[in-house]
Amino acid sequence: MLTSKEIRQSFLDFFASKNHKIVPSAPMVVKDDPTLMFTNAGMNQFKNIILGNDVIKYPRVADTQKCLRVSGKHNDLEEVGHDTYHHTMFEMLGNWSFGDYFKKEAIAYAWEFLTDILKLDKNRLYVTVFEGDKPDAETQRATSLHRDNEAAEIWKQFLPENHIINGNRHDNFWEMGDTGPCGPCSEIHIDIRPESERQKVDGLTLVNQSHPQVIEIWNLVFMQYNRKADGSLEPLPNKVIDTGMGFERLCMAIQGKTSNYNTDIFTPIIAEIEKITGYKYV
Ligand code: ALA
Repeated sequence: MLTSKEIRQSFLDFFASKNHKIVPSAPMVVKDDPTLMFTNAGMNQFKNIILGNDVIKYPRVADTQKCLRVSGKHNDLEEVGHDTYHHTMFEMLGNWSFGDYFKKEAIAYAWEFLTDILKLDKNRLYVTVFEGDKPDAETQRATSLHRDNEAAEIWKQFLPENHIINGNRHDNFWEMGDTGPCGPCSEIHIDIRPESERQKVDGLTLVNQSHPQVIEIWNLVFMQYNRKADGSLEPLPNKVIDTGMGFERLCMAIQGKTSNYNTDIFTPIIAEIEKITGYKYV
């Protein structure tokens, strides 16, 4: 069984082999950005590059970023302690292209990494694409856009059509915060239920339904806009790929567990707590 350390390293090695510069995780407390208190995504440290305010030193970058989603737009606090796959602090594996490759390569890399390198079962993978949107009646906030047919066409090279699902603005248009970089996205979901359950209920019907064993593992964002304070969308100077994969969830899937807490990221800590407290973790 691959250890979590090996899984993390295989991600970094894979993207290094695709000419990505491997950079360190940024601090979790964000400095110099009044729109954000804690790092909520791998892309935060690249915000100024994405907006065109900083020069692009490396057009291809990858890393593993420590994130905290306890406040603001991306807040998972209410889920933590209730389910098996949300955390306050977690690690996000990510790869970026700043004006270099776009959807075609980003999708192909993700697929190659999951199915060729990590050997995840293709039949258990589902993807979502942005279904398009109209302006919100109340806020007039539009994503303005039509369905992401381009991403859907690319996915068809890898998956049958009944594994490609339309998703709404909530799930398939990713925004860093109330303002800032954003764009349509494609998520990769995995069905880790036992075969017997998969025979009974099609995994397709459980995607984005809060099922603990049919979960999103990787989000590929096709960044093209800057959301302004008045709600309008301004095109970015360059098209940007911004991806984020939940490291703990990936380890759960690879290690054949049904909870992130049963992976070797957490079991040594839990064992130590059991020893100190004399209580058994169940
Ligand atoms: N920035 C994207 C996310 O956090 C990848 O889901």
